[in-house]
Amino acid sequence: MRILAIETSCDETAAAIVEDQDFKPVVLTNIVTSQLKVHAKTGGVIPNVAARMHAEALPAVLAKATKNQKLNYDAVAVTVGPGLIGCLLQGVSAAKSIALVTGKPFFAINHMEGHIYSAWLAPSKVEGLPPSEFSVINSQFSIPELPALVVIVSGGHTELVLMERHLHYKLLGATRDDAAGEAFDKVARLLDLPYPGGPEIARLAKEAREKDVVPDFKFTRPMLHDKGFDFSFSGLKTAVRTLVEKHRPLSDAMKLMIAREFENTVADVLVEKTVRAVEEFGVATVLVGGGVSANDHIRLLLTEAFAEAGNLSALLMPPKELATDNAIMIALAGYFHAQKGEYIDPAHLTAKGNLRLENRA
Ligand code: KG4
Ligand code: ZN
Repeated sequence: MRILAIETSCDETAAAIVEDQDFKPVVLTNIVTSQLKVHAKTGGVIPNVAARMHAEALPAVLAKATKNQKLNYDAVAVTVGPGLIGCLLQGVSAAKSIALVTGKPFFAINHMEGHIYSAWLAPSKVEGLPPSEFSVINSQFSIPELPALVVIVSGGHTELVLMERHLHYKLLGATRDDAAGEAFDKVARLLDLPYPGGPEIARLAKEAREKDVVPDFKFTRPMLHDKGFDFSFSGLKTAVRTLVEKHRPLSDAMKLMIAREFENTVADVLVEKTVRAVEEFGVATVLVGGGVSANDHIRLLLTEAFAEAGNLSALLMPPKELATDNAIMIALAGYFHAQKGEYIDPAHLTAKGNLRLENRA
């Protein structure tokens, strides 16, 4: 089966065609048009600007993904939520129109489900070294053992989820305030770095490690005293703001120190809570997804934690280029909907900005 997938939940207009060959996905096309340059100027995503840009970009993105209609497909999948409603509606109405006029099977995908299934493309097993980069086209598609612990770290979500069966999700914990990616973005703004802040902070933190710039302060690791699986990152952001205000104008060395200690703090909390959840729920696999899972330091600490623990058959993370939003992941989730016969009537579907992982579209 070949699935045409469309993703427009935030600031990437994406379409892809993925073919399933004996449960090994082969990516035939993968088009992502990013709005980042525009949003970098305003320091963040302005929803109606983003929605308008999706509307303008979608026809060309779809034409490229289908190679100007030369590439056939058997089904259509689209991100239905969560996300910015005006943005979601663009992709959903395009996908509905395609499904309605072609009569092809249609799947409504939760964006977070896409991030989860993107980890299925992971090349690395836990006993390996830090995940190496690899070509998406030649990826190995290994279906991991369930139950799995899912770690979602994106710009809008930070969640630990227990997945006992495909397409069944039990929320174990979530952030009580800012998401991890949001914290990266807000701290970047405090350091006068452009949007999106995650890669910028990661770059400075890396430079600090390379130059051996060691922070002479320490941030509290939030929520580690709490035995549950919730997170909180807004206090950490406030701690950064207080430090920044005290040291204005910031020296380059101070920026390096803040980036390094902030990244260390987020990584420590994510890894510690993940390790605790693995121990408590005895899962076979950990799946990590979302834009923040592109972070090298977090990937390294997770890999080291489970390499040492030796109690896990697999730690699966998407290749870095598929950690942030794309349509391949929506097609991958679509396969599991197809397997379970979870087709949906396009005529009755609408976008849902606050869709939760546990609820069906
Ligand atoms: O999953 P995603 O592309 O969009 C949402 O669904 O939210 O995630 C975007 C988030 C942004 O907050 C961005 O700053 C963060 O992922 N991000 C990173 C890195 N690359 C992207 N955060 C930390 N380190 C990175 N290398
Ligand atoms: Zn996302």
